[in-house]
Amino acid sequence: MAELAVLYDRIRPDEKMLFEALDTLGVPYDKVYVPQLKLTFDNVGRAQVPWKVAIERCVSQSRGHAVTRALEGFGVQVINPAHVIEVCGDKLATNAALHRAGLPTPRTGVAFDGETALTLIDAMGYPIVLKPTVGSWGRMVSRLNDRHAAEAVIEHKEVLGGPQHGIFYVQALVDKPGRDIRAFVVGGECIGAIYRTSEHWITNTARGATASNCPVTPEIADLARRSAGAVQGQIVAIDLVEDPQARNEWGGLTVIEINHTMEFKNSVTTTGVDIPRLMGEYAIGLLG
Ligand SMILES: Nc1ncnc2c1ncn2[C@@H]1O[C@H](COP(=O)(O)OP(=O)(O)O)[C@@H](O)[C@H]1O
Ligand SMILES: [Mg+2]
Repeated sequence: MAELAVLYDRIRPDEKMLFEALDTLGVPYDKVYVPQLKLTFDNVGRAQVPWKVAIERCVSQSRGHAVTRALEGFGVQVINPAHVIEVCGDKLATNAALHRAGLPTPRTGVAFDGETALTLIDAMGYPIVLKPTVGSWGRMVSRLNDRHAAEAVIEHKEVLGGPQHGIFYVQALVDKPGRDIRAFVVGGECIGAIYRTSEHWITNTARGATASNCPVTPEIADLARRSAGAVQGQIVAIDLVEDPQARNEWGGLTVIEINHTMEFKNSVTTTGVDIPRLMGEYAIGLLG
């Protein structure tokens, strides 16, 4: 039993790379398969788990959040903490945190009813992006070119959707240069960044975009660091877009979202930065 744990529910190439990095660092750690983990809140005051620090890597966001909450009850320091997952796991919460911190995002609106959403979208103008507040890999991120499209998607959400689909999170479509930027932050430092380039306006690598190295400019480093700070993220990836119309101290960069269980498999050879090793070193550093 080790003091360090990696919590996972599926071993992706990313988790394999993280395990290899931890093996190389030579610190004992437990690989914890969360679907088979059982925890009981009895014997108050007695240590229920041996771990002091855990890296949470679950693909299922709800499972990762739940196990983090539970382990925090036993005093485990989980990367990232539950309060970070709560903010980063929800684009609306992220945007609100960034807004409060004075950090730039694309022009964004939210409405809580379909009819009101239509009037909001009409006022913001077309084309517009409508996206679920919870989601990843570009799923259901929708570009609405005109009112007909907006009416159709809103009706579908209202008729088919659950409670989450009663929230209409809309964003001006940024005329980005065929790519966006993903910046990696570990322990308050921007350790590297990639461009994600695609023919499609949705540039997730899960959707076929190609990754290439993005030099970390002072603007990228500063915005990434401050964004991580705004949500108190320890190991996070910040999605940025270059907005030719935005005027700000970061050269027009705006923040699209922050990922709390970042995928990095396409970014290690691309950037030449050993991201999993830096993650491991950060976690080991917290062991004290
Ligand atoms: N407002 C926007 N303007 C232009 N492109 C956008 C906008 N919002 C999202 N995108 C594109 O869609 C991708 C996925 O959107 P994102 O909000 O990051 O959702 P997900 O959590 O599914 O990755 C982004 O990486 C970006 O390429
Ligand atoms: Mg994204």
